[in-house]
Amino acid sequence: MKRNTLCMAIAVWALSLSAPAQNFDESKVAPYQLPDPLTCTDGTKVTTSRQWEKKRRPEVMEMFQSLMYGRTPKEKVKAEYTLMKEDTHWLGGKATVQQVKMHFTGNGSTHDAMLLIVRPNAVKKTPVIFCYNFQGNAQTMGYDSSILPHASSSFYDQIWVNHDGCGVWDYERAVDRGYAIATMCYHDIHPDDPEYRGQSVAKLFAGYEEGEQMRSDAWSAIGMWAWGASRVADYLEKQPWADKRHLAVMGHSRLGKTALWAGAQDTRFGVVISNESGCGGATLTRRNFGETLEIITGAFPHWFCPGFRNFVGKEHQMPFDQHELLALVAPRALYVASAEQDQWCDPKGEFLSAYHAGEVYHLYGYQGLDTTEQPGLHQPIMHRVGYHIRAGIHDVTCYDWSRYLDFCDRHFAP
Ligand code: GCU
Repeated sequence: MKRNTLCMAIAVWALSLSAPAQNFDESKVAPYQLPDPLTCTDGTKVTTSRQWEKKRRPEVMEMFQSLMYGRTPKEKVKAEYTLMKEDTHWLGGKATVQQVKMHFTGNGSTHDAMLLIVRPNAVKKTPVIFCYNFQGNAQTMGYDSSILPHASSSFYDQIWVNHDGCGVWDYERAVDRGYAIATMCYHDIHPDDPEYRGQSVAKLFAGYEEGEQMRSDAWSAIGMWAWGASRVADYLEKQPWADKRHLAVMGHSRLGKTALWAGAQDTRFGVVISNESGCGGATLTRRNFGETLEIITGAFPHWFCPGFRNFVGKEHQMPFDQHELLALVAPRALYVASAEQDQWCDPKGEFLSAYHAGEVYHLYGYQGLDTTEQPGLHQPIMHRVGYHIRAGIHDVTCYDWSRYLDFCDRHFAP
């Protein structure tokens, strides 16, 4: 076991001894009252999409930036994209694989990340689903030796998290259905360890200096990963083969949290998909079920801004909850997915959160989930807000991918 792994495992174990017991019993969920997405800070009620966009949405956005994910820098950094390798005969000639180096320059520093794209040859303007990976681009292709090492791979071994539930990469299914998949390793943007902030994209910005991460609203790792997703969108929207009107962002678990925050901020993502994102993602923080704020901010302090920790034990005082993060995606299409055995993520909380986001979709005349009854296994709801719960554990499966492609078909139809 690596030293970091051991230390972090001990920390998580120690935390679990001192943390209040997590609840996995629905009958022990305490009553809670959610903040109303349609009531402004000054008490004004929002009744139109225009009011939402002009007044309430910026307020909600500000809460998530200042109190949870940290402030995304406004400055632009210089980005150069270089096509390093291309194979136009992948999957028996059905697909092209491109490997693109993204080189960022800012604040006297540089930073690289490696993007992998698989796209069908038969489609002229291709919709693209961007999805970060946990273990490097090569892993998504069964460790194909033609895949270049990802930019963070030189110190990857020292990073604590080596995620197991990183799922199926169903490239062929996507290609057959006319979709491109773009992916990159999330460590390339911020290695997933609190000690590695210095190796993250934070250094590209003028505000970066020793100690800046102590600011209550300092940019978090989730914030940086979301920023990286937008830099991929910058590239994709300039590619002649890509259909820039049809970009989706999908993510699993911590990267599902990331997909939601990326989709909330960047309106170029027309479909936003959260696969089992749980606490700090789709699920309602106030519902005491599964992972708690104390556990997540203790084990993964770098995922959120420092100020977020102030809500530990005071969840009911938070001026926002995660249904409002989901509402920030409106009127674009939103899909939330859960897994039956993934109680850590609180599937019911994910469902209810997506349900409550529906109020904002209604302002635009769109259907939300529009039922408070959580559907049974494998009975997806596919309105402007979608949801499914499938059998099995915390993972991304072929079932999940198939539903996401169905959902994209529906919302990307010409
Ligand atoms: C941990 C963490 C979750 C997170 C998950 C993951 O289980 O507690 O919040 O979603 O890791 O990213 O796999």
